[in-house]
Amino acid sequence: SALKRTSSSTGGHILRRDFSSESGPNRKVAVLGAAGGIGQPLALLMKLNPLVSHLSLYDIAGTPGVAADVSHINTRSEVKGYAGEENLAEALDGADIVIIPAGVPRKPGMTRDDLFNINAGIVKSLCTAIAKYCPHALVNMISNPVNSTVPIAAEVFKKAGTYDEKRLFGVTTLDVVRAKTFYAGKAKVPVAGVNVPVVGGHAGVTILPLFSQATPKANLPHEEIIALTKRTQDGGTEVVEAKAGKGSATLSMAYAGAIFADACLKGLNGVPDVVECSYVQSTITELPFFASKVRLGKNGVEEVLGLGALSDFEKEGLEKLKPELQSSIEKGIKFASQS
Ligand code: NAD
Ligand code: LMR
Repeated sequence: SALKRTSSSTGGHILRRDFSSESGPNRKVAVLGAAGGIGQPLALLMKLNPLVSHLSLYDIAGTPGVAADVSHINTRSEVKGYAGEENLAEALDGADIVIIPAGVPRKPGMTRDDLFNINAGIVKSLCTAIAKYCPHALVNMISNPVNSTVPIAAEVFKKAGTYDEKRLFGVTTLDVVRAKTFYAGKAKVPVAGVNVPVVGGHAGVTILPLFSQATPKANLPHEEIIALTKRTQDGGTEVVEAKAGKGSATLSMAYAGAIFADACLKGLNGVPDVVECSYVQSTITELPFFASKVRLGKNGVEEVLGLGALSDFEKEGLEKLKPELQSSIEKGIKFASQS
């Protein structure tokens, strides 16, 4: 059923695992930017995941400390820290999944696109290394602006001759996490059972939560749907403002990143019906990259699922987001093809 198909992302299992479990195939997960605000708690959560056998923590500096710390946790994976570009090859070698939270975060007053000038170059150089050292890895792109960094990664991989659209993901799970939390609050239902697809992209109006498809159904008044939509779209800004110059979401993002990586691992391991929203190469609209529900499997994307029935408000939102998303995609492609 539709409910079952989308139920993989409730997430509560992450902290309820049997930590002594050591079953399953060897899986190496590399985190690039592992000493950062997202990277550190994400390293912790990946260390708690029994599907991981090798955890590789890379950053330009600081990773020996993070790796030593996390490595003392008595769970399955063997942890290694790598600092500096000269160690990137070894950090990536044999990786099944590469998670990229490397790059600068927003400060109040900035848009995600304001990060482009710094983060585009970082993502480009990291993806160049991925193409060289682990071309078959699933890439989970967290670095902003996601709407552009995913197209940059695709171009880098195309140039290197390693591009496989099934293996490149923009991580939009935090939008889903927020939509679920905010919806549960308004609908007064237990959050653990809530599902809300979020489609489009990952910035402002390009984030389009589909509350008309939210379960359990709550029949909220239209004004509340408008407010929930806006709060989901502005969720990142809410955190940036509350942190007042000290960065953007790190803890909730680490949680969301861990949920998405776990879904990728399950897909690789052949678990059926693993569905998450993600920003991927897509033909469900005229835009070349688009976030929607995606079924994950042994090769990454198994199927990009359609949008389903939209309310008039969501149809309007979909048309409104297309110009911005299109231009962010073009900006990424242009950067990668010119430099
Ligand atoms: P941060 O500054 O705390 O950490 C970033 C880390 O990246 C630092 O440790 C830094 O040394 C490292 N880094 C910089 N250049 C690097 C390189 N070339 N190779 C490897 N590591 C490098 O920032 P943060 O709060 O962790 O955020 C990281 C990124 O994630 C930002 O771009 C932010 O906008 C983005 N983000 C995305 C989402 C999402 O939903 N997709 C959510 C939150 C944050
Ligand atoms: C988020 O949604 O929290 C991230 O994209 C970080 C940001 O800049 O808002």
